[in-house]
Amino acid sequence: DAAEKGGYEHYMRKEIHEQPQSLRQTIAGRLDVDGGDVDLDVSLSEEQLQSLDEIEFVACGTSYYAGLYAARLFETLADVRASVTIASEYDFGGGRDPWRTLTVAVTQSGETADTLSAIRAAKQAGAQTLAVTNTLGSTVTREVDDSVFIRAGPEIGVAATKTFASQVATLALLAVYVGRRRNALRAGRASTLLENLRALPGAVQQVLDNEPVVEELADTYADSEAFFFIGRELAYPVALEGALKLKEISYDHAEGFAAGELKHGPLALVTEETPVLASLTDGSRAEKTHSNVKEVQARGAPVIAAASADGDGTRPAVDEQLPVPNIGLVEPLAANVYWQLFAYHVAANKGRPIDKPRNLAKSVTVE
Ligand code: G6P
Repeated sequence: DAAEKGGYEHYMRKEIHEQPQSLRQTIAGRLDVDGGDVDLDVSLSEEQLQSLDEIEFVACGTSYYAGLYAARLFETLADVRASVTIASEYDFGGGRDPWRTLTVAVTQSGETADTLSAIRAAKQAGAQTLAVTNTLGSTVTREVDDSVFIRAGPEIGVAATKTFASQVATLALLAVYVGRRRNALRAGRASTLLENLRALPGAVQQVLDNEPVVEELADTYADSEAFFFIGRELAYPVALEGALKLKEISYDHAEGFAAGELKHGPLALVTEETPVLASLTDGSRAEKTHSNVKEVQARGAPVIAAASADGDGTRPAVDEQLPVPNIGLVEPLAANVYWQLFAYHVAANKGRPIDKPRNLAKSVTVE
C-alpha cells in the first residue's frame, strides 16, 4: 500500500502532485502550437460541427464544474451556444433541434448512473453524443457516438483532483478543435491558448513547489467557522470546485460563490471567522473581483488570493498571496491546485480519512 502511494501518506496528495505529469499525458501529441490547431481523434464531420446550434454538457460533481469551465471556453472560442446541466436534473428540453445539438457527457469514471441516464435521454431525443472520460471501455464509451480520453491515469482518491485538470485541458483542446472547424477561431488565437496549455504542467509544478506555504495557511485557518471561495467567469467553477474539495475531505462548511453574487446574500455570512479564498486570474475579470475582495476585507474576513500578476505586474493587497504564473485562460486551473492543497492540508490537520471520506464513493452507480 505504502509503495503504491509512492511515499505519500494519501493517494490524494500523490495525485495532486502527479498533475504536471498527467497533464503532459493529456496534451501529448495533440498540440499543433505553430499551426494553431489540435490533433484529436473525433469522428464528427466538419459539416456536423458547422451546423451545430448548441453544445450541452451533462455531468455530476467535479465533472460538472469541468463542464462549467468548458462551456465558457466553447462560447468564447468556438462561437457556439454552450450549456451545462447537472446530469440528475437533465431533460432534453423544448426549443431545440436535436440534430443540431451535441450532448457531451463529462465523466471521469464513465460509470456514473446519473450521467449515463442523461446521455441516454439525449441520444433518444436524437442529439449527437460524445463522452469525455478517463476510462477506456467504460459504459459511457459504449453508448455514445464518440469518445475523447483525458488520459489522466488511474485516480484512487475519492475526491477528484488530477482528473479535473485533465478534463478541463481536454475540453479546451476540443474547444479549439470545434472552433477551428467552425471557422470561429483564428489560428493566432488558438496558438496562444495551445501555448498556454503547453505551459500548464510547468505552472502547476510551480504551484506545487509552494506547498509548504499552503500547508502553513491551512494550519493557521483550519479551525475557521466556514470557508468561502469566490471567482468570476473561468474562476467561478474553480471557486465551486475549491469549496467542494474542502467539504468532501475536511467536513468543514465551505461554499463557492460567483464573486458578484456576494452582495446578494452570502455577504451576510462573512465575518472575521470566515476566510475568503479568491481566484484572481486571467479569464476571470479579476479587476472586478478585487472590489469584492475589498468588501469582505471591510467585514474583517481574512483573504487568501491565488493571483496572477496583472499587466502592471502587481497583485492585490490581501492577507495571503499565492502566486499563479501567467498562462492566460488556463490560469484558473493552476489556481485550483492551491485549493486542492489547501483542502488536503486542512483535512490532514484534522486527521480525516482523506482518501475515503465518509458517505462518499469514487463512482456512484445508482441514480
Ligand atoms: C462521485 C465522486 C466525485 C465525482 C463524481 C462524478 O461523486 O465522488 O469525485 O466528481 O462522482 O464522477 P464521474 O466519474 O462521473 O466524473
